Amino acid sequence: MATENRVVTYMGPKKLEIQNVEFPKLVGPKGRKCEHGVILKIVVTNICGSDQHIYRGRFPVPQGMVLGHEMTGEVIEVGRDVEFIKKGDLCSVPFNVSCGRCRNCMERHTDVCMNVNDEIDCGAYGFNLGGWQGGQADYMMVPYADWNLLKFPDKDRAMAKIKDLAFLSDILPTGFHGCVAAGATWGSSVYIAGAGPVGRAAAAGARLLGASCIVVGDTDKQRLEVVKKAGYQTVDLASSTPLPDQIEAIYGKREVDCGVDCVGFEAHGHGPGAEDDPAAVLNGLFEVVRAGGGMGIPGIYTAGDSEAKNETIRKGAYQLDFGKAWIKSPSLVAGQAPIKKYNRQLMEAILWDRMPYLGEVMNVEVVPLDKAVDAYRLFDEGSPKKYIIDPHNSLKQAG
Ligand SMILES: NC(=O)c1ccc[n+]([C@@H]2O[C@H](COP(=O)([O-])OP(=O)(O)OC[C@H]3O[C@@H](n4cnc5c(N)ncnc54)[C@H](O)[C@@H]3O)[C@@H](O)[C@H]2O)c1
Ligand SMILES: [Zn+2]
Ligand SMILES: [Zn+2]
Repeated sequence: MATENRVVTYMGPKKLEIQNVEFPKLVGPKGRKCEHGVILKIVVTNICGSDQHIYRGRFPVPQGMVLGHEMTGEVIEVGRDVEFIKKGDLCSVPFNVSCGRCRNCMERHTDVCMNVNDEIDCGAYGFNLGGWQGGQADYMMVPYADWNLLKFPDKDRAMAKIKDLAFLSDILPTGFHGCVAAGATWGSSVYIAGAGPVGRAAAAGARLLGASCIVVGDTDKQRLEVVKKAGYQTVDLASSTPLPDQIEAIYGKREVDCGVDCVGFEAHGHGPGAEDDPAAVLNGLFEVVRAGGGMGIPGIYTAGDSEAKNETIRKGAYQLDFGKAWIKSPSLVAGQAPIKKYNRQLMEAILWDRMPYLGEVMNVEVVPLDKAVDAYRLFDEGSPKKYIIDPHNSLKQAG
């Protein structure tokens, strides 16, 4: 058995360490027995914008917590109560930890499982959400494995597309969920706020759904450039031209059918020199989504932002233009994305070459685990890449 288990550990704002910790056991937070779990040898584990909120110290987590929630791995040990998943299976891990046994799981709301966190109905690896150990590591434990794991049907075929399949643990189903929640379908016009990895995955998701005009907005020119090159429309929110005017210049109308927030609480305000404004994206969507249109809000909002401008914002209370928006009969869906609702179908779409455009817009860079801290820094500085950690050099070996 392997003796080394390197992990990426949060030691304080912008302080990460690669530590060598004990090999995982079939035991969860607070000594919870997990005979329904497995141990995975990690094949790929991605860095996410959600990790960045933690990295910057703006989403509070305990010091010493192991980061990471976007894992794909090979099963190397199975618990006594695991029936169907076998040693050697190559699987994607949905970032939501869920039990498969509670009312919410049964209703496919794995984002709000009632049995995996004593404090709130919601669990995830590598967050302060139930204490489940993160997976930016050599090895990790996944509970309720028969339920949680998505097994790839053929290992060699999966390894040939692993850089795309790696997104199934989070950002592709999340971006797709944002679009579905916003009502995007064939012919829809969609505005996506944020050209980070989730916004880029949402653009690819909107395309799979058959959307027509897909506009992505950001203040970061490098990221917008990647999106534009991949064939989507872009708007620059650092420009002095207001968002509806920019949308009109592209689409011919000031409002679109659907809006997706792929930014969250660290949003910048719009226009040159604008300051941080956590309500900027939501108010922008209220403005540019047509009456009766829908909004998907996967971007994270939280109480406890240490860099909030004042106490009200720190509590997560924002100045929303709800009075203006209400008359448009808006509908919106917020919260964690329920990954299991979408990951199987999106896996099939990738395996059957229905998303050949995914790689270009995601712009992946694969890094070894010992370079993870550098990758966090580059991502924080606005790199237009999506960083994927390959702890065991599995991608090189697969060719
Ligand atoms: N709900 C979920 O299940 C879920 C899952 C994954 C990620 N997320 C969240 O989704 C969000 C995006 O993730 P990411 O990895 O792409 O992060 P990211 O930080 O790389 O990207 C966010 C982008 O938004 C841009 N931005 C800032 N203000 C803006 C504005 N007013 N309008 C448009 N763009 C603006 C930033 O410049 C940045 O490029 C994060 O909040 C992340 O935590 C949620
Ligand atoms: Zn993520
Ligand atoms: Zn549950």
